[in-house]
Amino acid sequence: MPAHPAGPRHADVLPEAHLTPPPVDVNALDASIWPASVRRVDGVVHLGGVAVPQLAREHGTPAFLLDEDDLRQRARAYVAANSGVSVYYAGKAFLCAAVARWIADEGLGLDVCTGGELAVALAAGFPPARIGVHGNNKSRAELQRAVDARVGHIVVDSFDEIARLAEIAAAAGVRQRVLVRVTVGVEAHTHEFIATAHEDQKFGFSLREGVAAQAVAEVIASDALEFGGLHSHIGSQIFDTAGFEVAAHRVVALAAAIRDTHGVAVPEINLGGGLGIAYVAGDDPETPKQTVDRLLAIVERECAAAGLPVPRIAVEPGRAIVGPSAITVYEIGTVKQVTLDGGATRYYVSVDGGMSDNIRTALYGAEYTCALVNRVSTAPPALSRVVGKHCESGDIVVRDTWLPSDVQPGDLLAVAATGAYCRSMASNYNYVPRPPVVAVRDGSSRVIVRRETEADLLRLDAELDPTR
Ligand code: LLP
Repeated sequence: MPAHPAGPRHADVLPEAHLTPPPVDVNALDASIWPASVRRVDGVVHLGGVAVPQLAREHGTPAFLLDEDDLRQRARAYVAANSGVSVYYAGKAFLCAAVARWIADEGLGLDVCTGGELAVALAAGFPPARIGVHGNNKSRAELQRAVDARVGHIVVDSFDEIARLAEIAAAAGVRQRVLVRVTVGVEAHTHEFIATAHEDQKFGFSLREGVAAQAVAEVIASDALEFGGLHSHIGSQIFDTAGFEVAAHRVVALAAAIRDTHGVAVPEINLGGGLGIAYVAGDDPETPKQTVDRLLAIVERECAAAGLPVPRIAVEPGRAIVGPSAITVYEIGTVKQVTLDGGATRYYVSVDGGMSDNIRTALYGAEYTCALVNRVSTAPPALSRVVGKHCESGDIVVRDTWLPSDVQPGDLLAVAATGAYCRSMASNYNYVPRPPVVAVRDGSSRVIVRRETEADLLRLDAELDPTR
């Protein structure tokens, strides 16, 4: 079984000397990577029927441009895939009121993992009964708010939390539905996973030594809690369902033990998120239908083997819904040619954002695809590295790419598949204001998250806040 050590990696890390060959056509836009509406019209890239340079003029750069139809279509495809499977959008990938409303419109549930995400969902009018609440250290206030809002379920993650939640629910006169998060000992990324008997990590209840079984017993014993099922999440950017197979096997074994001990059927098994998307050529994810059907088949098979009725299945895709729908458009500020050992030249192309709007390259060694969007070029491709404006050499947006060798200041560059975990993980490092998110559809655009201003940043400084 292929394996790599468990750790903070959520994408493949390129070997130092890794250089992909130049593309046949440096102006081409791979349809499996770019949002569905992206195309070149007279050399200029359009998204949602609007020229990207026009969007850049109107909204400034850098900016996240979100193809609304593309996102809705992906959400719809998960819901339509199989009526036996519930779909919760994982808001941590990217959440704002508009996205919460689109997700609600398309019939999905919503997974939130902090009080902040819950606040956005509730403020946007997301139906509380379709919200699931995650988190390994939910505060008393977060739990109270979730119970008061009558969220559909809370995924309990520790014995402390079971006791705390039971107390809060009892005081509120609510019988709160909960899922028990199980640590199955599977860690999966892309095509690799490791499966161990235990996992040295902070989430969930271990299957070892009856820990998860004890958590279920405590939930079943509590009058204030309703046992809603089991939850497992095994990783991110997964292309291969083999890791889910091991996870489902272990979760179903626990379900059989629950039946034997308590005479209770597990109503739902939630297999979490982690479904992969295409960031670079060659990434080849399955369709939502293929993935959902395969997951359902795995659970059906495991339940048949254990002689159990098939529970409701749920999944929580975040990246697979919002990731491919957005691009980041930057303006190029400088181009520098650097000679590498061995004599090759690398272009350092500096853009007006960087690790503050996309930390994934620096954090995980993530790979991205980018292209010039304001024009096509017939110049030969040059080995390039797209870097940001931060005061740090690790401030890399696209580590290795090929751009036309006539790339110049003022050109617009777009990075594909930045919808997930870019704006949501954005920071104000170096006091760089975070970019806006602009939704584009049918030839028109609207700001759904506005650009941060210097005034926003200064307002947080207690010595400078003009309103104090
Ligand atoms: N459900 C649970 C319980 C999760 O912990 C996560 C992600 C998801 C669902 C959604 O996973 P997705 O389908 O989006 O892969 N910042 C990292 C990803 C961290 C994911 C954490 N949990 C990245 O940029 O790759």
